[in-house]
Amino acid sequence: MRLLLLVAILSSVAHAQDLSFRSHGKEIRSLSLAELKKLVPAKDITIFEPHEKQKVTYSAVAARAVFEAVFKDEWNEADEVLFTCADGYQPSVPASKFKKFAAYLSFAKPNKAFSMVNSLQNSEKIELGPYYLIWDNETFPALKAEGGSDFPYQVVAIELVNFEKRFPGMTPPRNRSPQVERGFSAFRKNCMACHTINGDGGGKAVELNYPVNITEMVKTPWLRRWILDPTSIRYNTTMPAYNPADPKRQQTVKDILAYLRQMRKHKRKPVPRDESP
Ligand code: HEC
Repeated sequence: MRLLLLVAILSSVAHAQDLSFRSHGKEIRSLSLAELKKLVPAKDITIFEPHEKQKVTYSAVAARAVFEAVFKDEWNEADEVLFTCADGYQPSVPASKFKKFAAYLSFAKPNKAFSMVNSLQNSEKIELGPYYLIWDNETFPALKAEGGSDFPYQVVAIELVNFEKRFPGMTPPRNRSPQVERGFSAFRKNCMACHTINGDGGGKAVELNYPVNITEMVKTPWLRRWILDPTSIRYNTTMPAYNPADPKRQQTVKDILAYLRQMRKHKRKPVPRDESP
């Protein structure tokens, strides 16, 4: 009886490590690490680790090869790839980025603990497993200017989504100005993995639009300073500063604020999501 219980606990732990693959709301496959490695051979890859600002080696499988094998024909038409993480982080990455650059799903560091000290988030110590998405920024140095926003750790599910269908509350109306357009795309890339707009977005930080938009509540100079340098306002915040490697940093933050201001006129009561497969 006890043995059975132990087996049940062990298998549920093993099951919790399975990686769930979904397409537009439905689970299509769930794979253990052994199954994943059977699908695509693992290798060691060294990248410039944006959270630690040094080179680090990971054991990993090539993400695009996994997506081709799991999603098959759907991968060719994919719009965005949404990563769900155990800590609530949920970035949406354009599928085109995986076709242009090389990303890997890492699952270990050879001979080291699969954890790190995140210098971008108040030097918190974090566990990276079960999966950590990394980009080969040694082969593609252009990626080094992007910061760490597309490097989600604790990944538990990967889903193909259509951005406007999946996040209607975050999308500004179509007749938007070029500045709002730029701000929206910068928000998508740098903020939505943690924050929500009208309930749409990640689950690691607070809503910024409903019922009171943040620009109605906090004056612009303070907001600008918060986004550029959060620890200059709250010494222990885990919010990362907006990408220090962006040469147009000041302008991008203005654009993000223009997008947020626009969303004042588009408040919508958040709709609870059913995340079950
Ligand atoms: C890794 C997660 C993360 C990312 C990415 C992130 N934030 Fe935050 N943000 C937080 C957390 C956490 C807080 C709450 C403050 C705290 O607890 O430290 C916060 C607070 C805020 C606040 C204050 C909200 C309030 O009501 O007081 C604003 C404004 C904000 N973030 C804007 C942004 C913008 C704009 C971006 C993108 C450039 C961004 N954040 C990216 C985690 C994040």
